[in-house]
Amino acid sequence: SSSPVRRICCIGAGYVGGPTCTVIASKCPDITVTIVDINPVRIAAWNSPPNPKTGKLDDLPVYEPGLADIVQTCRGRNLFFSTEVDKAIHEADLIFVSVNTPTKTSGIGAGYAADMHYVESSTRRIAEVSTSSKIIVEKSTVPCRTAASMRQVLEANAKPGLQFDILSNPEFLAEGTAITDLENPDRVLIGSLPTPEGQLAARKLQDVYARWVERKRIYTTGLWSSELSKLAANAMLAQRISSINAMAAICEATGADVTEVAHACGLDKRIGPNFLRASIGFGGSCFQKDILNLVYLSESLGLPKVAAYWKQVIEMNEYSKERFARKVVSTMFNTITQKRVALLGFAFKKDTGDTRESPAATICKLFRQERAQITVYDPKVPHHQIYLDITEPGVIDDTEAAKKQVQIANSAVEACAGAEAVVIATEWDEFKTLDWEAIHASMKKPAFLFDGRNVVDAKTLRKIGFRVHTVGRGPEIVDPVWA
Ligand code: UDX
Ligand code: UDX
Ligand code: ADP
Repeated sequence: SSSPVRRICCIGAGYVGGPTCTVIASKCPDITVTIVDINPVRIAAWNSPPNPKTGKLDDLPVYEPGLADIVQTCRGRNLFFSTEVDKAIHEADLIFVSVNTPTKTSGIGAGYAADMHYVESSTRRIAEVSTSSKIIVEKSTVPCRTAASMRQVLEANAKPGLQFDILSNPEFLAEGTAITDLENPDRVLIGSLPTPEGQLAARKLQDVYARWVERKRIYTTGLWSSELSKLAANAMLAQRISSINAMAAICEATGADVTEVAHACGLDKRIGPNFLRASIGFGGSCFQKDILNLVYLSESLGLPKVAAYWKQVIEMNEYSKERFARKVVSTMFNTITQKRVALLGFAFKKDTGDTRESPAATICKLFRQERAQITVYDPKVPHHQIYLDITEPGVIDDTEAAKKQVQIANSAVEACAGAEAVVIATEWDEFKTLDWEAIHASMKKPAFLFDGRNVVDAKTLRKIGFRVHTVGRGPEIVDPVWA
């Protein structure tokens, strides 16, 4: 039918589904949005009451600046969180599939291919319980041509006479800025089949976004282009980081300054200034997973040279993390055994509590292997999550061993007290304005500072007495005395 969308169901209440559909609910008061998940703990957290002290929703399962306020306004009005997956599917006329698609850990394509199990089982639920026609929207990042598989599952299992139109609408939000990205996106991409039904479905989804996104920013393409564009965009963004990190290694060996090199390159409008911040490496749930996906796709299409090209982006990232850890050890007289190291930041980037693929976790594991004593501080990551991320699953007593070796502090100042080195792994703003003088006074000497994100002002800190090492700056700047 040509009636507009009235009821939306979002399957998957995670980092993508939760914020995306919350913003849709806030922009479209006339649409009822129900976000469902099979995980009752997650749904309970989305439904958690305000903190009696602050009046704010502090216990939502996803931390994003601005998210709690919007949930508070919309929840119970036209936004609902529920474990009743079947009921929400049954009532919806448009369904976002926003479930996880992790990298497979075993079987064919292990380590590369996306695990499509969650997408397929939610598609089967849709087929099973639907008694009316639906628009089904792929929101999760999926391998190219997933829509074709979904279609087969639906056609083989659905009640006769129902129409299912599948759209691809990948999400480009970045964590930490999810709400502003969603409210003011660079573009909204909608892929559909070129058939009249497919185009009608795409138009209905466009009409949802058009409530707050200018039409010219809503770009419609074919299904396969849309699916591939998400992988392509993430691969190119990650490639820029690996490129600047490769330059950082050259800078450290030559005396060039990577921030100057990045700025000089970024002034060329064909290159542009963004996403050229040298770092210990990129993290997050998307970049590595999506590139591995692209590598697997290229291999399976018989394009090994293409696969090898993209794989190098990940190899450079692994190298960046290891190179940084190795520099810490070699600078500290080739041993950090039994030395106290303060690790500031554990999330994969600032303004999120998410630690998936966080380079901080890799660094922490490498320090553990060197038998350092580590004190971690992160303003948002829950303590138990840190222990989960630095232990090896299945290794007996590793958590106990980890607790002896890794302590968690409640502030950066506390983490640094008595330490021989400070390692900054996440670019939290609060690290810029710490009382570095007091921190220096509380540390063992020489006091080392390794800035893996180039957030502190190295000059000022050197004046205080720190031996500062940053990513991508040459030796004479690092330590003028010994250059
Ligand atoms: C990314 C994409 O940006 C987003 O469009 C997509 O929808 C999901 O994947 P996200 O992973 O949330 O988003 O964060 P992003 O800001 O891209 O950062 C990813 C990683 O790269 C972080 O670890 C970040 O610290 C690192 N990074 C980013 C750099 O090291 N240097 C940079 O210049 C930019
Ligand atoms: C290049 C740089 O652009 C310039 O800044 C530098 O000073 C010298 O090298 P040039 O080689 O003259 O300039 O031309 P450019 O426009 O960069 O094209 C180089 C090649 O890339 C050409 O063969 C061009 O056809 C090709 N190209 C360019 C593409 O295949 N695709 C593109 O999107 C752009
Ligand atoms: P993302 O970062 O892509 O949002 P998350 O792992 O944060 O990924 O969220 C995906 C959510 O999807 C999880 O909370 C998971 O429980 C949920 N999920 C997975 N399979 C199903 C399913 N068949 N039905 C409902 N929810 C599901």
